[in-house]
Amino acid sequence: MRDNKLLLIPGPSPVDSRILEALARPTVSHLSPEMEKELSGTIENLKKIVMTREGQPFIIAGAGTLAMEIALLNITAESDRLLILSQGYFGQRMVEIAEAFGLNYRLLESPWGRVVKLDELRSELKKHKYQVVTCTHVDTATGSCAPVKRYAEIIKQEAPEALLVVDGVCATGGIEENLDDWGIDVVLTAAQKCLGVPPGLAIDVFSRRAMEKRKKLPKVKAYYSDILRWLPVMENPKKYFSTPAVNEIRACYEATCLVLEEGLEKRFERHERYASAIRSGLRSLGFSIYTDETCLASTLSVIGYPEGIDDQSFRKKLDDHGVVVAGGLGPTAGQVFRLGHMGNLTREDIIFAFDAIEKTLLSLGGEVSLGDGVETVRSLLIR
Ligand SMILES: Cc1ncc(COP(=O)(O)O)c(C=O)c1O
Repeated sequence: MRDNKLLLIPGPSPVDSRILEALARPTVSHLSPEMEKELSGTIENLKKIVMTREGQPFIIAGAGTLAMEIALLNITAESDRLLILSQGYFGQRMVEIAEAFGLNYRLLESPWGRVVKLDELRSELKKHKYQVVTCTHVDTATGSCAPVKRYAEIIKQEAPEALLVVDGVCATGGIEENLDDWGIDVVLTAAQKCLGVPPGLAIDVFSRRAMEKRKKLPKVKAYYSDILRWLPVMENPKKYFSTPAVNEIRACYEATCLVLEEGLEKRFERHERYASAIRSGLRSLGFSIYTDETCLASTLSVIGYPEGIDDQSFRKKLDDHGVVVAGGLGPTAGQVFRLGHMGNLTREDIIFAFDAIEKTLLSLGGEVSLGDGVETVRSLLIR
């Protein structure tokens, strides 16, 4: 019997006991040898996770939205033109941040459930000159995964001076993001999704080119979010600017060690395998997948209900069975539910979830023979 509910919302994701133990370790001084070891250790681990030799990570108390703000404010000059690629809710959030700081932006968006097409990006870059381009790797509202590597190639061809910002909040540590080889300038992410750490850390990794851009900017509209105030701390944790989230960093150190122990290729492949097993299992139970087949993300699924199953009742009953999923956002609210399958999720977790989903469907009058869905997903998970 589980002590607590299985968290299958698209972040926070289930937290491995090793990470929870690290979080519960004593709070030490932020200038202590322990913090020096664990903060610089996390920085080195993050460089490996986003595949950069010279990139500079920043780990700052806050959430993914702060990481978005830090990325935009530290590389966008007032005179710059910013192109925002959006495939849903969090692309729109990038627009809101740009508007909040009066940045000069243009929006290129796709319908929900799809992504901005390569030729749409290419023709936009041919039409206008941009200094900064942002994209969302996985939009957590739509479950759509953008072809970041291809976007980076097109930007290199059509706008080589433009800096590329990738919102990896629902991807970093679960899907490949190669900062150096793909030519990404900022990967932004947060602790609570594919890294599997409780919420509380904003993480940005700046390429050498992005750092040079920041150093050239006379000033930025930020104090706490100004990376040049944090750089001395990231380079030498014995330095002080503002008190880092000590226990969160202890947990993040453990989590990034765990990612590298599993191995990036194996971890990315596991996310793919779990995602396709879960989607096949759900289809076998009469659910449908909202996101277009061409851009399915491996870190979450957005799922339509079988005929006659009500959203609120389903999620409530499923919660009673010990599994927590999220509702739809924006236009999809009430029509779909969102199931996160990222981070350190285990096979046992997924099987437990399917058992609960079947019992929930049955209790709501759905056509289901108990065990079928569990067997479908179990057989696919062991492959
Ligand atoms: C793609 C994406 N970007 C940004 C955010 C914002 O992160 P936070 O909720 O930690 O502020 C989220 C949160 O779900 C997200 O999924």
